[in-house]
Amino acid sequence: MAHDSTRNYDNGTSSKSGSGSYGSGYGNGYGSSQRDYQGSYGDYGSGHNGKGGHQAGNSTTSALIAGAAGFGLGLLVLAGRKAAFQAPTYAAGDWFEGLKAEHRAARKLFDALAQSSDEDHKKRGTMLMELQYAISKHNIQEEYVVYCVLAEMGQADVAEGLNADHFELKQGLFELEMIVKEQRGGFADKLAEVREAFESHVREEEEEAFPTLQASLSDEQKKMLTNRMNREGFKVA
Ligand SMILES: [Fe+2]
Ligand SMILES: [Fe+2]
Repeated sequence: MAHDSTRNYDNGTSSKSGSGSYGSGYGNGYGSSQRDYQGSYGDYGSGHNGKGGHQAGNSTTSALIAGAAGFGLGLLVLAGRKAAFQAPTYAAGDWFEGLKAEHRAARKLFDALAQSSDEDHKKRGTMLMELQYAISKHNIQEEYVVYCVLAEMGQADVAEGLNADHFELKQGLFELEMIVKEQRGGFADKLAEVREAFESHVREEEEEAFPTLQASLSDEQKKMLTNRMNREGFKVA
């Protein structure tokens, strides 16, 4: 697809509003999605207050209200947890820097897993779950935002190759999970194999694909891509 330098990846500060541009495609849709989150929290709040005022004194209603309050609080806690999980990426201030920070964080989890004991299956399983969680959020940000933009900017083949790497990585993590679950041997060798696949993939991203993409974006597009990616991360964090 031809490179359209007027395209934007978010609606926040878009100066383009023509149909078919990312200003109206990614941008408006995403902005609406964010407003929907806020609206949902508001709706839970008003529903709870309305019932409370209308049927005070009824024990069943009181129990429902308590339940609704708990549910609302649960959503707030969930939003807080999501925000906390996305915070280091957001704080990096740039999509590429954010992804590099996540690569470094994943390396630490790989290192910790490599130090884990063959005897402590439970702890190893928990650590593996943390790595799967971190990589899955990271990969969704790349697959649903960054690789799509990469393809739009004329690097579809590269994006496809990186997508295929993600599938292999998922498969490797799944095999590790099965080794832990079935308490089989061979964890260290498999982990080393998965780690090497991860490092090779990250090298391609950090040294080739992403610098090329970054160089092709305007400052405004970089900002929009950064926002778009962070929102995707927040959704799945
Ligand atoms: Fe990736
Ligand atoms: Fe990555």
